[in-house]
Amino acid sequence: MTASGVGLYVHVPFCAHRCHYCDFNTYAGMDDLIPAYVAALRADLRRVATAGPQDVAPSGAETDGEWPLFASIFVGGGTPTLLPANDLAGVLRLARDVLPVAPDAEVTVEANPESVTVEGMATLVAAGVNRVSMGAQSFAPHVLDFLGRWHDSEAPLRAVEAARSAGVARVSLDLIYGVPTETDADWRRSLDVALAAGTDHVSAYALTVEPNTEYGARVRRGAAPAPDDDVQATRMAVADRRLTAAGFSRYEVSNWARPGQQCRHNLTYWRSGNWLGVGAGAHGHWSGRRWWSLRAPGRYADVALSGASTTSGEEVLDAATRRTERLWLGLRTAEGVARADVEPVDAAEVKRLVGAGLLADDRDRLRLEPGGWAVADDITLRLLG
Ligand SMILES: C[S@@+](CC[C@H](N)C(=O)[O-])C[C@H]1O[C@@H](n2cnc3c(N)ncnc32)[C@H](O)[C@@H]1O
Ligand code: SF4
Repeated sequence: MTASGVGLYVHVPFCAHRCHYCDFNTYAGMDDLIPAYVAALRADLRRVATAGPQDVAPSGAETDGEWPLFASIFVGGGTPTLLPANDLAGVLRLARDVLPVAPDAEVTVEANPESVTVEGMATLVAAGVNRVSMGAQSFAPHVLDFLGRWHDSEAPLRAVEAARSAGVARVSLDLIYGVPTETDADWRRSLDVALAAGTDHVSAYALTVEPNTEYGARVRRGAAPAPDDDVQATRMAVADRRLTAAGFSRYEVSNWARPGQQCRHNLTYWRSGNWLGVGAGAHGHWSGRRWWSLRAPGRYADVALSGASTTSGEEVLDAATRRTERLWLGLRTAEGVARADVEPVDAAEVKRLVGAGLLADDRDRLRLEPGGWAVADDITLRLLG
């Protein structure tokens, strides 16, 4: 099992433009705010680090007052590569100054193909970045067009090459399947091109219709079709077959990796581990307490720069909610969940699902059989009774 550990997430809420399908906390046309936002990230990171684990743990929880070693940093967005590389490198260096980050920590930056340069990547590598997660989405021009992507279908390949030549050790590609204009052949080709690019990790997501997006609005007024569930199920199966045949293994419903290349940071999420979240709208979790920061980048920056807490909400999960989340997230991974962490589960349902070939019960662990991947969330609901 790949080790994960404690993580740090840093959110960058800026994009060159909004893709038609995306509802992440990110904004186009706000570049003027970037310098203040970078200063705010630095201030907030210092504040959180200085306050120590007792400030993020549930009140009354025992901590020894010292941060444990951080095994991963993930800079996500939005488009982190829209920040000047020196600024982002400075934030990453600061993280190492104020938190105990393991020397061999996995440090990932999400990147958009059109904002990747060899020089920028080299600056990030010098600051410890060793993994890039690149949004390719598709290698079919008409699919990129439907999604409202601004890059051509060759751009992700040039960007992978640039990251590699700058010394980035690990490159992951994001793909989206089931776009209404995509054919079976387009999807097979996208997978093949992603493999030919020499990537060691692929995230493949079924297109979802987010109400608060341009695509969502088009679906609502009948101007664009919603994705077809059956087509998406077939494409997911095609992805699994092709990636598995190429030596990848599926370690989460939407994620495949070559041996040893699983994303440690995301494993922390799926194992319900502990992580700090810094940046506008970032979420964190520590020993059952979950909190989130102010969502609007301008407001976040003002508050962070004033030295005040940027937390806008929190909840302490009760035992039943923690168990539900553990099961829901754990069953989406190949390693499954320790049965002791999710008891009580419906024993009769376990038996039925095992009999149906959807679930494996290794006594101390529950995990999905390949036939269960497509219905992971339904299985969780059935096990919860
Ligand atoms: C928030 S983006 C950040 C990465 C980067 N900005 C990019 O677009 O290349 C992370 C990934 O989420 C996925 N994603 C976002 N919205 C989605 C949607 N509605 N359906 C499926 N996947 C989506 C895309 O694959 C995207 O690469
Ligand atoms: S998919 Fe990526 S580039 Fe497109 S709007 Fe979302 S975060 Fe920005």
